[in-house]
Amino acid sequence: MKTVTLLCLVVIANLGATSALAGGSGNHSHGHEATPAKMLETMRDQHADHDHAHDFEAMDDISEDDMHRTIDLLIDIGLVVPTMDSQRGKVAFIEKGCILCHAVNEVGGDVGPSFNASDMVQPMNAFEFAARMWRGAPAMAQMQEDLLGEMIALDGQELADIVAFVHDTDEQKTVSADDIPAEFKELLE
Ligand code: HEC
Repeated sequence: MKTVTLLCLVVIANLGATSALAGGSGNHSHGHEATPAKMLETMRDQHADHDHAHDFEAMDDISEDDMHRTIDLLIDIGLVVPTMDSQRGKVAFIEKGCILCHAVNEVGGDVGPSFNASDMVQPMNAFEFAARMWRGAPAMAQMQEDLLGEMIALDGQELADIVAFVHDTDEQKTVSADDIPAEFKELLE
């Protein structure tokens, strides 16, 4: 139970950090500003029917200020995965070549499943996305070698950013076929 609550907190913390980095533009998948309070509200709704009860009430009395301090602490002690930036994720998704096989909003290849943010599980779960990649890994490794000559390498930051991007409806709207580098376009034809 504690672990589940902690994981959820980490996710909240992470979204809070994302919005802080984005200068509070609120540019994330829920289309409103990701203040911790708003995230909690969303999570309360989405977890309302679960058997395992999260003790959201325990957080009622925490001020916004203290919530931010808690989030900063979680980041400090490494309990938070790298800050997830969907703008950087868009660049990685395109330049690493994911888009060759995975489309967003009809842009990109159709070798693998598309990643429209509207079809993704929300709120985003980075671990779930990584687990899906792992399941697809054998097929992807082979195809990437055939198509690109090697398997795509990702570091943790790039993966975190890609996870943010595949869950961000607004960021995905900015993707057009013109963004795809020429050498990839040839492969797509
Ligand atoms: C050469 C083509 C190709 C490239 C490039 C590629 N993928 Fe894939 N990917 C696939 C295929 C094909 C599958 C489906 C594999 C299967 O069903 O076994 C897949 C599956 C996946 C899945 C699992 C989807 C599901 O059904 O749950 C994820 C997640 C994924 N890829 C992410 C990525 C990311 C992120 C990148 C870029 C770093 C990437 N892929 C690059 C071909 C590719």
